[in-house]
Amino acid sequence: MNLVVVSNRVARGKANEPMTGGLAAALLPVVEKSGAIWVGSSGRVRDGSLKEPFAEIEALGAGALAMLDLPAAHYGGYYEGFANSALWPALHSRSDLIRASQGDYLSYREVNAFMARALLRFQKPDTAFWIQDYHFLALGAELRDLGVTRPLGFFLHTPWPARAVIEGVPHHRELIEAMLAYDLIGFQTSDDCENFLGYVSSDLGLEVADGVVTSSFGKTRVAVFPIGIDPEKFAQQAAKAVSHPDVSRLRRSLNGEKLAIGVDRLDYSKGLINRINAFDRMWTEHPALQRTVSLLQIATPSRGAIEAYGNLQSELAKLVSDVNGRHGEVDWTPIRYLNKGFSQTVLAGLYRTAQVGVVTPLQDGMNLVAKEYVAAQNPADPGVLVLSKFAGAANELDTALLVNPNDIDGMARTIATALSMPLNERRLRWEAMMDKLRAGTIQRWFADFVDALQETRSDRCGPEPQLLVPPAPWPLRSVNSSSRYH
Ligand code: F6P
Repeated sequence: MNLVVVSNRVARGKANEPMTGGLAAALLPVVEKSGAIWVGSSGRVRDGSLKEPFAEIEALGAGALAMLDLPAAHYGGYYEGFANSALWPALHSRSDLIRASQGDYLSYREVNAFMARALLRFQKPDTAFWIQDYHFLALGAELRDLGVTRPLGFFLHTPWPARAVIEGVPHHRELIEAMLAYDLIGFQTSDDCENFLGYVSSDLGLEVADGVVTSSFGKTRVAVFPIGIDPEKFAQQAAKAVSHPDVSRLRRSLNGEKLAIGVDRLDYSKGLINRINAFDRMWTEHPALQRTVSLLQIATPSRGAIEAYGNLQSELAKLVSDVNGRHGEVDWTPIRYLNKGFSQTVLAGLYRTAQVGVVTPLQDGMNLVAKEYVAAQNPADPGVLVLSKFAGAANELDTALLVNPNDIDGMARTIATALSMPLNERRLRWEAMMDKLRAGTIQRWFADFVDALQETRSDRCGPEPQLLVPPAPWPLRSVNSSSRYH
């Protein structure tokens, strides 16, 4: 089978570049190995005819990476607009932050239709398409409109919320009906799956039996595929990375003090304000912990053009500065706060240096930082993971110290508990989590989804696809430089 993977953001095969998100970093090694074609945005926009997609193509492992310039007229409405100001807040149960205009919705649909036309070039008689994430809810329906009969899979990396929340998204009905063009829809957790199926049966009045929805498109299987990491590879990376200059400098600067670490995109779903408040509370309630533990919080700027993200950045910077001002000493800074990205190699070494990993989102699809923190630990002296029960990862990593990120006192107490946990208990908890990581690797996730996708349509594949647009050679490089938007 010839697999075409599609996501908005893609990653190039360079281990030392800063990584901006879970999805692209997670997919890179498996896509590289699979021989698939990975199609996504180039990071550039382009004026002109939407009918002629322009892609830069380069080799990626056994396959290829195709980076498309997206239509300039619709990019803002698609990415900052509908995808990240309507869908993202809704998917993370922040109805109060949903902002959407009719223009944004039309741009979102235009970019989905544009991507569908671009994908025809990659279709072969044995192709299956695997679409990733909320940027492309309607892409499957656009492909079917173009006559594609091949298997279409979709995986959502974020949570799927309760019915009442998704109903707050304009055009929710039209969009979710369009999603049923996919043969297979994968979610991170069974809660997400149940929420989606609840909407489909109650709002759309469709028949759901054994996780299979019947609609005018035919049958759609809905199932859970929790995404994983490669724990052995990450562990090796972490062991090596302790000698990386950034990691050595961090260790030297600690002077025997303990370290807690948080690594997040600067996003309101990550619970950063509550986390800083919990550390503040902990140092207030347990003054003995002042000077004995500090927090390294990496908050990588993200989606800066959107108002809610700009507001969060200012609020967080002010809060960190207040807390440092109140608890700090001439020779001690309680919170080391960094607004930049790091390579996976450096992050692996930083995780291994920290005695506590704090991953406390208000809502999160999976959260691979939690899994990476665990895999990075020294087996002889592992750190403790403090994990939000609202991250998808909590389903598997149930021997972490689970917290409610809205309970500041509870989090403060739990972080203090983590700091004083005896070695024996740390090892037992860590070993149980490692077993889970080894059972649910990223390779397993990829293979399980692709196998399930192949099965969904094998019994009803029609004749060879008739390409509406004949395959054409792609231009290899952009001539006119166009604006970067990432
Ligand atoms: O599903 C979440 C996701 O798509 C992940 O890839 C990543 O955590 C984040 O969103 C990336 O967002 P963006 O591409 O907007 O920076």
